Amino acid sequence: MPLVTSTEMFRKAYDGGYAIGAFNVNNMEIVQGITEAAAEVRAPLILQVSAGARKYAKHVYLMKLVEAAIEDTGLPICLHLDHGESFEICKSCIDGGFTSVMIDGSKHSFADNIELTRKVVDYAHERGVVVEGELGRLAGIEDDVNVSDEDSSYTRPEDVQEFVEKTGVDSLAIAIGTSHGAFKYKPGQKPQLRFDILEEVEKRLPNFPIVLHGASSVIPKYVEIIDNNGGNLADAIGIPEDMLRQAAKMAVCKINIDTDLRLAMTAGVREHLTAHPEHFDPRQYLAPGRDYIRELVKAKLINVLGCDGKA
Ligand code: G3H
Ligand code: 13P
Ligand code: ZN
Repeated sequence: MPLVTSTEMFRKAYDGGYAIGAFNVNNMEIVQGITEAAAEVRAPLILQVSAGARKYAKHVYLMKLVEAAIEDTGLPICLHLDHGESFEICKSCIDGGFTSVMIDGSKHSFADNIELTRKVVDYAHERGVVVEGELGRLAGIEDDVNVSDEDSSYTRPEDVQEFVEKTGVDSLAIAIGTSHGAFKYKPGQKPQLRFDILEEVEKRLPNFPIVLHGASSVIPKYVEIIDNNGGNLADAIGIPEDMLRQAAKMAVCKINIDTDLRLAMTAGVREHLTAHPEHFDPRQYLAPGRDYIRELVKAKLINVLGCDGKA
């Protein structure tokens, strides 16, 4: 089976009241952990690659790893560029075989975001590739960009219809209170998502797939393992899983998860090396990281996204 786009995945997810997991991949163990979990529960998948991941692993390696995962599992997999910041990087991923790209014009003015996004959509659609746009700014860290709380802003529901009509995007990422990274709220602050904004967006864009970035829950099991082995994550706070379940039942069709994968992988490696400081074969300590990723992703697919059995 070749790579697929997210079009059919999103249509079914919207109608079925569940969401597709979009997991960031950077190396072989991460790809294997995610896809083995999805194969076990027969879940469709979006695997996404950031500019940083392409820099770290090279486009061609990530492409081949994902192709290998399709051959190994037979799953429908969409390969997506996460947070493309220019037309050039989107073009490079489209030309290089990705089936979906995000053009993140959220740091630009509304008019400039529309213009840039439209340019990417025109190029992508001519080649059968789908496009995710973004309106509103999430706080947190993406690559080298650190968006402070003051610079973040919720999506304005009154803007979404015009943005989608003028750009022709296939899905839209919105800001309703999630943020990137492991420290999503200040200590003592209660996690909160603006479901009222999501509802307004849903009314204005009927049957249109919405994307939630910054949606890791910062799972305590992995945080504790890292902290017990020299970590410093006491103030880490994620998005509660019941809020993500609620979003998945609404118009949110794609939920982005990276930080939880990082925590699971690191927990496995740290725990192993603490117990066996004498080991120096990377297979000995990378395998437990991969095991924790498999465990994490399986739980997400079944308990949070509700997309198990939908492949
Ligand atoms: O949203 C950002 C993702 O977590 C990717 O992070 O740019 O450090 O690879 P990265
Ligand atoms: P997290 O940092 O919450 O995992 O978000 C990942 C993300 O949005 C990737 O685009
Ligand atoms: Zn993101």
